[in-house]
Amino acid sequence: MPSPVTIVPSALSANYSRLGEDMAALEKAGADRVQWDVMDGRFVPNLTVGSDVVAACRESTSIPFEAHLMIVEPDLLAPRFAKAGCEVVIVHQEACRHLHRTLASIRELGAKAGVALNPSTPIESIRHVIDLVDLLLVMTVNPGFGGQKYIATMEPKIAEAAKLIASVDHHVDLEVDGGISAKTVAGAVGAGARVLVAGSALFGHPGGLETAVAELRATAEQAVG
Ligand code: DX5
Repeated sequence: MPSPVTIVPSALSANYSRLGEDMAALEKAGADRVQWDVMDGRFVPNLTVGSDVVAACRESTSIPFEAHLMIVEPDLLAPRFAKAGCEVVIVHQEACRHLHRTLASIRELGAKAGVALNPSTPIESIRHVIDLVDLLLVMTVNPGFGGQKYIATMEPKIAEAAKLIASVDHHVDLEVDGGISAKTVAGAVGAGARVLVAGSALFGHPGGLETAVAELRATAEQAVG
């Protein structure tokens, strides 16, 4: 029986000196997808990996990759991450001058189109492009760093996102990202999230990745009911 939730470890918390090994370890630990947090030091005050690093890790695991582009020019780099092997490319609504065109172009690349909303950005801002959205990411932290505190006041926003998704006739993943752990996941899942990004809660778990993924999945499944 497939799990009703999807566990997506964030590579932001992986060991950057052995990313390939960590990708293989994530697959062994039962992760469903891996999220690459791409930061340009301008959209967010941090700098991480480019598409070459993602491409270099592609062969280390068979589980899908998604790219979370926390960058000011997503139109420029989205094609590179699709080419590097990301099945989903997620752009920030706040970084797109023409979001409708950007989402359509990601789909034309053969990737699924994702849109992420910072905590202050309303669901209303993507209502008119929801037909082009395959994944809606409600941020539960202010983007830029791992290990931040979950913002529980995002739960009504997650519920609003779930309502919008229920009104369309195509599948849209409802994803949350930021401070997700066995302690916080029930609130997010209870509000409607089913795709769970976690970095520090998985890589920092004293019991190791396998225990961490299993524990997060079990806690989330319990919250689905
Ligand atoms: C934005 C990043 C982080 C990361 C998850 O800063 O997108 O949210 O994926 O980090 P944790 O799970 O450690 O909060």
